[in-house]
Amino acid sequence: MELLARDEAAVSPSYTRDYPLVAARGEGCWITDVDGNLFLDMAAGIAVCATGHCHPRVVEAIRDQAGTLIHMSGTDFYYEPQIALAERLIRLAPGSGKKKVFFANSGAEAVECALKLARWHTKRQLVISFEGAFHGRTMGALSLCASKPVHKEGFFPLVPGIHHAPWGDLDGIEALLRHAVPASSLAAIFVEPIQGEGGYRLPPSGFIAGLREICDRTGALLVCDEVQAGAGRTGKFFAIEHEGVVPDLICMAKGIASGLPLGVCIAQEGVMDWGPGSHASTFGGNPVACRAALATLDLCEEGLVENAASVGEVLQSALQGVCEGVGAVVEVRGRGLMRAVEVENGSLRDRIVQECFRRGLLVLGCGPRAVRFSPALVLTAEEAETAASIFGEALRGALLDT
Ligand SMILES: Cc1ncc(COP(=O)(O)O)c(C=O)c1O
Repeated sequence: MELLARDEAAVSPSYTRDYPLVAARGEGCWITDVDGNLFLDMAAGIAVCATGHCHPRVVEAIRDQAGTLIHMSGTDFYYEPQIALAERLIRLAPGSGKKKVFFANSGAEAVECALKLARWHTKRQLVISFEGAFHGRTMGALSLCASKPVHKEGFFPLVPGIHHAPWGDLDGIEALLRHAVPASSLAAIFVEPIQGEGGYRLPPSGFIAGLREICDRTGALLVCDEVQAGAGRTGKFFAIEHEGVVPDLICMAKGIASGLPLGVCIAQEGVMDWGPGSHASTFGGNPVACRAALATLDLCEEGLVENAASVGEVLQSALQGVCEGVGAVVEVRGRGLMRAVEVENGSLRDRIVQECFRRGLLVLGCGPRAVRFSPALVLTAEEAETAASIFGEALRGALLDT
């Protein structure tokens, strides 16, 4: 209680804490709070701690790098971990040609980089993103968002030239191109491979391939925002791999460095063609964050991504099991360890999130009425079953409360 009062007095009131968890320690998928209570963490710091809390290999990499070189600024100097990480990401990313990587500190900054680069490279001004989209909170990234009005309220005017199309509807984009967006002025289409904050909404089959076709036809860039869905979360390293599409730009952050701040923007051959001084970041691609990311990539390649795919299926069927016969549940959906249960309204969802917390399960909401599950990729099948069973109790508890 004392910490909550100190927080209230000193920390920005813009944060949205759904329940009063004060974390003290983390290990794997488990969090201990300051009073010694243990929680099964299905939120992972908003889909960030990909390798689990304090994975020994990540901790070791961070410790080693912190004792060697903490900061230098890759924008003015060179250091090996940043080069090595760029090379690894280039090898992993879809597309067989040469690529280039820009380093930032967050998802919003990775998106900001893509937005600026799209304008720079195409010499065009207009951009399309989607209803339900979330791309971050800096002015450029925020302008691409259309998930909740509260994100934008009080901040207009935003960056001009951004149009929102209905999610999953290629005809909506064709209509924009017919009425509002001259094809010759379209710089880019920004898309999340699965909408995150907007509700863990999967793209209809063929939608992303259709976007690729529209971009090829108009000369616009296809930008894939993998900030939440990437780094193995969906059971493939890049969520776009499920679609068989090669985007021109990929943005990543969250899971890539297992909890250290790092954003990346990966560009296909020839796209990152700006010159010195066009764009940079003092801290972006900091050596410690790059070492944490290299350790994360090692662990992903050693089986974490496969684990996300297989345990994700266990989680899906366990959640379906506990939701069976509950009329208030609309859908259980997702890919890998990016899963959501959508219920019939937002107030029920909010009560479920509270009931989960009371029972020792950490979950977050997403979209207007869904509960999201975005645990660390080290989640075991047993932990998935436990999470689903607590969720089932919380769901019934929340329904009794009506
Ligand atoms: C898809 C997506 N893009 C961008 C962002 C912004 O990332 P950050 O909060 O690191 O700026 C988020 C954050 O939730 C996200 O889910």
